[in-house]
Amino acid sequence: MAHAGRHERKAETGPRRRGVIIGAGAAGLVVLGGGAAALVATQGGDGSGGSDGGGLFAGSGRSTTPPPPPRAVDSLADESSKVPEIATTDLSGLADPRSVSFPRLPRARGLSEALDMAVNKILREHVYSGAEASALSVTGTVFAAGADVLGAALLHTDAQGEVPAVVYYRSAEDRPFTSPGLIAPERWADLEKAVASAAGDVEGVDAASLAHALQQQPRPWGNGPAIIPLKDGTLHLVFPAATVAGKPAAAEVILDAATAKPLLSEDGTAVLAALASPAPFDPATVTDPPGTKGDADYIQPPEVGAPASPREADPTGPDSQLAPLSGPGVRPSPVAAPDATRLKAVALTFDDGPDPNLNQPLRDALNEHRAASTFYFIGKNVKEYASWCAKTAANGMEIGSHSWSHVQLSAQSGDKLNDEVVKPTDEIAAAAGRPPFVMRPPYGARNDRVDEAVGAQGQSSQIWDVDTLDWKTKSAPKNVSAVQGATVRGSIVLMHEIHPTSVEAVPDILDWLDENGYTLLTSSELGQNQMRAGKHYMQGLVTHEIAPPAGASDGGAG
Ligand code: NI
Repeated sequence: MAHAGRHERKAETGPRRRGVIIGAGAAGLVVLGGGAAALVATQGGDGSGGSDGGGLFAGSGRSTTPPPPPRAVDSLADESSKVPEIATTDLSGLADPRSVSFPRLPRARGLSEALDMAVNKILREHVYSGAEASALSVTGTVFAAGADVLGAALLHTDAQGEVPAVVYYRSAEDRPFTSPGLIAPERWADLEKAVASAAGDVEGVDAASLAHALQQQPRPWGNGPAIIPLKDGTLHLVFPAATVAGKPAAAEVILDAATAKPLLSEDGTAVLAALASPAPFDPATVTDPPGTKGDADYIQPPEVGAPASPREADPTGPDSQLAPLSGPGVRPSPVAAPDATRLKAVALTFDDGPDPNLNQPLRDALNEHRAASTFYFIGKNVKEYASWCAKTAANGMEIGSHSWSHVQLSAQSGDKLNDEVVKPTDEIAAAAGRPPFVMRPPYGARNDRVDEAVGAQGQSSQIWDVDTLDWKTKSAPKNVSAVQGATVRGSIVLMHEIHPTSVEAVPDILDWLDENGYTLLTSSELGQNQMRAGKHYMQGLVTHEIAPPAGASDGGAG
């Protein structure tokens, strides 16, 4: 028990840690007496840069106290040299004044995709917040490396100050996961107790706000803490938006090694071992994930809860895609996406762009509803309208490939087939700053040969289960009723960017989805970190078997 341990060790470690320390400027730091846990309120969070956030503990400092323990984000190692073929994705050129760079790990596809998804979410939140014209800085680092384990952090500044988004990775099953995955599910309640014990000793810290945060997915998906072990075995929980003395502030709770160790999952233990003894990452250990069935048309995660409406946004956190609270004592999902097992999630997708006239109004409608979407661009169009591809990417919308020239890929082979999947990948990489992870074959026309060519680009194929036939009806009301008539939880909805009537229908479609409790996810988010390169998917998360739509593979719209 963390609580008992804390008092047992108080005599030996209390004097070293006891004390209240006032940092300079925005940083007020509190270190508790007691061995098990320390809480460090690290930043003011008033949205104005925290100029007076540190005043919180002012006046109670003692001049003789020892320095506080370092913040976790200041203690991260750089282990990027241990990752073969690691590269940097730099999105700074997409839109001023953004400064966004993060690692890309071609030999750890699942981690690369998860980081890409997280960055897209950060970019979208920046737009949703109305701060589009203001600065955004995201930097990424690989701070843990072992033969079969990695840890990467994205450090960014939002309205609450500097917050880390952390993604871990195990190569077995090519599996990314977020901070809650470090903790064994059955020990989450013990973690909550240890955190409450730490917070209870600090005047002005609202323990209830920390407990509330522990029921949420971490940033950028929710307001939950980033959990970062250090090589000394301490576990640092960085709460992006705790309530400290009645105002939001970042707070860091530190559990000592003896308290932390029994809380860790097998994954958590592996991450800690990699931090203590860094080693080169071995791509040969990467294996395919499970979770697909039949011909890999479906994704069926092992845990499927009751569909629920999205949670109301919290003024101190992300604005969109918030999964319901996990509940007291229940570990939030470690999936690097909004937890679709607890959401009525759909992916609304738009093909055939970018369209120089309709791209902006389409994204305006999506942004107004704080909706995520995936745009499947034709390579030739990206070449002609690269700036619209860049703007879509800077908006944090997911971009997928839709072939080079919109041919029926299943009728192609050899160099022609290869060109149709390679050239758009390169063109999108040049315009959007990084290559796509998803591809939509025109007309849904795929076969094993197409899947293989697409897979060689590290992409999965996204088909659809709801065909609005918007290209055919060219009627906004008919587009709306097509969505209303066929959309179910987990649907991938096919629309097109290039028809004014399609874009015209979007606000009404989004209203209807909102009213019916749906949450809009990108294709990759709907895939919940389980899609494999070279496989194709008709739907995202499903709770029941649904037959492939007629015509989806042999001549639908696409
Ligand atoms: Ni198309």
